[in-house]
Amino acid sequence: DSRQRHVLSIQSHVVHGRVGNTAAAFPLQLLGYEVDLINSVQLSNHTGYPTFKGQVLEAAELDVLLSGLRSNSLLSNYTHILTGYIGSYSFLSKVYDFVREMKGKNPNLIYVCDPVMGDNGQMYVPNDLLPVYRERLVQIADLLTPNCYEAELLTGISIKTENDAQMAIEALLKEGAKTVVITSIELNTDDNNLILIAGNREGEKVRLSYPKIRAQFTGTGDLFTALLLGWNEHGLKVSCEKALMTMQAVLKRTQENALRLSEGKVPSAEHIELQLVRSKGDIESPPPFHSSCNH
Ligand code: ATP
Ligand code: PLP
Ligand code: MG
Ligand code: NA
Ligand code: MG
Repeated sequence: DSRQRHVLSIQSHVVHGRVGNTAAAFPLQLLGYEVDLINSVQLSNHTGYPTFKGQVLEAAELDVLLSGLRSNSLLSNYTHILTGYIGSYSFLSKVYDFVREMKGKNPNLIYVCDPVMGDNGQMYVPNDLLPVYRERLVQIADLLTPNCYEAELLTGISIKTENDAQMAIEALLKEGAKTVVITSIELNTDDNNLILIAGNREGEKVRLSYPKIRAQFTGTGDLFTALLLGWNEHGLKVSCEKALMTMQAVLKRTQENALRLSEGKVPSAEHIELQLVRSKGDIESPPPFHSSCNH
C-alpha cells in the first residue's frame, strides 16, 4: 500500500562514526522509511574512543522538541517510534509517557524498543533505568531487541542454554511485549556461531545460528534493530533473516576494511567503524539466507 512509513528515532548522535541515529537513519531511509531524528546525546564520537566530547539532552529539552512537533501537528505523521541508548531516568520516563500518549492517539503505532543497558555482564547506563524498562517500556513494546545480558536483566533469568533464552522470551511476552528478539547468544558448546532466538505473541518461534566474526564492533545493536524494524512487515522469520544477512555483509566488509587500515594489527575504534555507505547494496538487497548459516 502507499501509506508512507515514518519513523521517529530517539537515539544518540555522533559527529564521526556509526552508532545510534547515525547507524539507524541511512538503512531505514534505504528501506523506504521517512526518518525523523531526536538526538538523545550529541557526541564527537562514540565512547569506545580514547576520549569523547559533547552534550546530553535533558528530559526538559526533549519535552521542548516534542511540544514544537505537537504545535505543528507533526506527531500524527509517525507510524513507528524507535528508541535506543538513553542515559537518564528522567529522559526515559519522558519517553515512556510520550509513547503512551502516541499509542493512545494511534493504536496502530509500532513502538520498537532496544533496551540498551549493557553487554557482557556489565551495565553501562545508571541502575535506575532497569526498573523503567522492566516495569514500563517492556509492557508497551511491539518489538523488543535485548542482547543476551539485557534479556537477563529484564527477566532475572540467567541465560546459559537455548531453553533459558526461550523462557526469558516467554516471560517478556507475558509482561506485554508483542515480539522479542534476543539478538545474540553465545553458547559454551559452540565457539564459531552465535544464535538469535525470537518469539511473538502469536506463538511463532525463530532460531537462527550465524557465524561469529572475530572482531569487536560498535553500533551493531543499533544497526540490527533498525534493519529489523525496516523488514518488520515481512514477518518475524524473514525480518530476522534479512537483518542478519545484511549484518553479516556489513561486518565482513567492516572487518576487511579495518584489517587493511590497521595493517593486520588490532584495529582502532576509528578503523572499525561500520562501513554503511559502501554496504548500500547489501542493505537494499540482503544476500539470501543460507542454510549453511543455520545449523
Ligand atoms: P552491541 O554489542 O553493539 O551493543 P548488542 O549487544 O545490542 O550490540 P548484539 O547481539 O551484540 O547486540 O549484536 C547485534 C547483532 O549484530 C547480532 O544479532 C549480529 O547480527 C551482529 N553481530 C554483532 N557482533 C557480531 C559478531 N562478532 N559476529 C557476527 N555478528 C555479530
Ligand atoms: N551510542 C553511543 C553514544 C555510544 O557511545 C555507543 C557505544 O559506544 C553506542 C551507542 C553503542 O552502540 P551498540 O550498543 O550498538 O554497539
Ligand atoms: Mg553485544
Ligand atoms: Na540489541
Ligand atoms: Mg545494544
